[in-house]
Amino acid sequence: MLSGALVRGGMPRKHSTRLSLSSLIVVTYFSPPLASRLSHERKNLMKALQLEKPLSWKRIEIAEPHAPAAGEVLVRVQRVGICGTDLGGYLGKMPFFSYPRIPGHELGVEVLTVGDGVTNVQPGDRCSVEPYLNCQQCYSCRRGFTNCCEQHKTLGVMCDGGLTERIILPARKLHLANKLTPDQCALVETLAIGCHAVDRAASKAGENVLIIGAGPIGLSALEFVKLSGARTIVMDISESRLAFVRDKMGVPDTLQVHGDESDVKSLADLTNGQLADVVIDATGSNKSMARALEFAAFAGRIVFVGITQQNIEFPHAPIMHRRELTLLASRNALTRDFTRIISLIEDGKIDTRPWITHHAAFDEVPDVFPSWLKPETGVIKAVVNVE
Ligand SMILES: NC(=O)c1ccc[n+]([C@@H]2O[C@H](COP(=O)([O-])OP(=O)(O)OC[C@H]3O[C@@H](n4cnc5c(N)ncnc54)[C@H](O)[C@@H]3O)[C@@H](O)[C@H]2O)c1
Ligand SMILES: [Zn+2]
Ligand SMILES: [Zn+2]
Repeated sequence: MLSGALVRGGMPRKHSTRLSLSSLIVVTYFSPPLASRLSHERKNLMKALQLEKPLSWKRIEIAEPHAPAAGEVLVRVQRVGICGTDLGGYLGKMPFFSYPRIPGHELGVEVLTVGDGVTNVQPGDRCSVEPYLNCQQCYSCRRGFTNCCEQHKTLGVMCDGGLTERIILPARKLHLANKLTPDQCALVETLAIGCHAVDRAASKAGENVLIIGAGPIGLSALEFVKLSGARTIVMDISESRLAFVRDKMGVPDTLQVHGDESDVKSLADLTNGQLADVVIDATGSNKSMARALEFAAFAGRIVFVGITQQNIEFPHAPIMHRRELTLLASRNALTRDFTRIISLIEDGKIDTRPWITHHAAFDEVPDVFPSWLKPETGVIKAVVNVE
């Protein structure tokens, strides 16, 4: 159930554990037993990082989680990956992000204790976290589309997430990954977004797949297009992002967007005039998404994995209808994607080495975070070390 899906320590408690010195003094004077209980709780605080409002990090202390209930697990957070959602949350540009909020949805964790009935993990296990909290009851969930639950909440976006020391999670959202490093565990969720997008595209050997947008989401799709055996071509406005694709991801075919007809011609030259069987747009730009159709081959498929709040306008009869294109959305990922990705990393079929470009210690985050917004920093994936 969603209501019990994520229970942060302290939230269900009746009295606050964040006491001021004056309140402690008053309590000590009038009620020694209560004071001693509260001062004990005061010791059981842990650190967390909160976005108090856009552009404002706050180092806070929150209560230790309670013991895990049935079906829940208490975990120690080891790593937190930072993604565009967190950057957008910091900037105040994420529509689903509310404040104050403890971010963190890309998590590598270690199991500390398990509640009754939990059999999939045990203390000491390292896990990746599926941060999509779903209700298990709506029409989507009942049909297995847990990625687009009608009551969906992403941890760290619509409810508090993992930028803290310990949290309680539903056991069913933990994916055992003992052979992965904590960094790799934190990377699984980003990869899951690309995995699901490529499943939607159903690319196969012999096809040309154009990925527009070479940020982490486009790159995660790239990993799965490669695995499908299709040929990948990557397009971006940014030459430095394209250089990363060529030099670090081993994909030679890149095209820099100029925003005119020469882009379609360049793609035609690379594909024997056929254009792309699949176009995956991972830009988040409504202009790029509208243009994505122009790059699709006749009977091609287009997947929008990037997200925009703007309307997207494109010509129907001359392009979509004439070419009989199929347009698909892609949201989050499925449970099975997490299991698959962990196996692919274990088997060396996904090389995670190019991915993590920046690390920061937990306490450094408020200071270094603004630098991760600057393209010249060259961040693909920054990971916070919580230990
Ligand atoms: N489907 C999902 O569930 C899901 C999950 C997470 C993120 N997202 C979305 O995926 C998108 C990409 O995320 P990211 O973290 O990789 O972002 P990013 O900003 O790091 O990368 C986007 C890339 O697109 C390029 N780009 C922008 N406009 C372009 C244009 N007109 N033509 C060509 N290239 C252009 C940029 O240069 C950049 O390299 C965002 O919209 C994000 O919200 C979707
Ligand atoms: Zn993310
Ligand atoms: Zn649901």
